[in-house]
Amino acid sequence: MAKTIKKILVTGSVGQIGSELTLALRERYGAENVIATGRKTKPSDALLRSGPFYFINVSDMDSVEEMVKKHNIDTVFHMAAILSAVGEKNPQLCWDVNMNGLYNILELGLKYNMTRLIIPSSIAVFGPGIPLNNTPQETVLKPTTMYGVTKVAGELLGDYYFRRFGLDVRGLRYPGIISSETLPGGGTTDYAVEIYYKAVEQKRYTCFVREDTALPMMYMPDCIKATMDLAEADPSKLKHHADYNLAAMSFSAGELAASIKKYIPEFVVEYKPDFRQAIADSWPNSIDDSAARNEWGWQPSYNLDAMTRDMIEKLTARHQQGKLYG
Ligand code: SER
Repeated sequence: MAKTIKKILVTGSVGQIGSELTLALRERYGAENVIATGRKTKPSDALLRSGPFYFINVSDMDSVEEMVKKHNIDTVFHMAAILSAVGEKNPQLCWDVNMNGLYNILELGLKYNMTRLIIPSSIAVFGPGIPLNNTPQETVLKPTTMYGVTKVAGELLGDYYFRRFGLDVRGLRYPGIISSETLPGGGTTDYAVEIYYKAVEQKRYTCFVREDTALPMMYMPDCIKATMDLAEADPSKLKHHADYNLAAMSFSAGELAASIKKYIPEFVVEYKPDFRQAIADSWPNSIDDSAARNEWGWQPSYNLDAMTRDMIEKLTARHQQGKLYG
């Protein structure tokens, strides 16, 4: 009989995914049972109002352990990470937060006999040598970014703690995540979010990858659903643990701009690739996520146009109130 999730710690709760995930977890498990934490960014009023919040540093074991003990934590959604673009500017920080942070969470998981640890991975685990289209679950993992290196090591560590100690570690390889509530913090796929904000605000955007750059992407409601579904999945059905490929849609920057133009016809995009182009080029165009579909019933809801409609509706409403950026 699998243990149940009762008391949750969310790290990285002020981030793009963490901020929305925390609210969804509070809906499902009760506000007081979800302890939100962040490193230094001020949480939004909505997050603060929704339940307990604390500052901790995931790479400092004592600060995490104090939270775990104080709140009887049995499950961690470990969302704290330095993403690919910031990671290339500061590889040492990326290693420290992503690896030491994860190691601390895994060790505390063992020490406190936790029910479950959810540790996100990313399409950044892939690099040269992969089939770029419909990239399979099992393939060569030779990332060229520090972020990717930490995510491959994180998957291997998660699987190791499962095999060696029986710790229930689960993880998914997020594609680029697009959302309307919190801006992403320094990834390569950030253009796919910025483009919507600029379309609504200025009807112009200068994109930092080429028009033909295609990457796997997902809308936030699907990302939250995937994360919570995997966390609740029947362990006896899971053949993988920390490394599920996950997909919803794939499109090029040009196709994304064309989708926005259906709603904002005067929208103009220029393409000026920077250092992030090489990172994008090393990642898949699209992903085969049949393991997630078969083992825990993963099924996305949003395609490109459905996402665009929703993004533009939400951002336009905020822009009209003068609160586009919150
Ligand atoms: N969105 C992430 C990044 O671009 C990929 O996981 O770094």
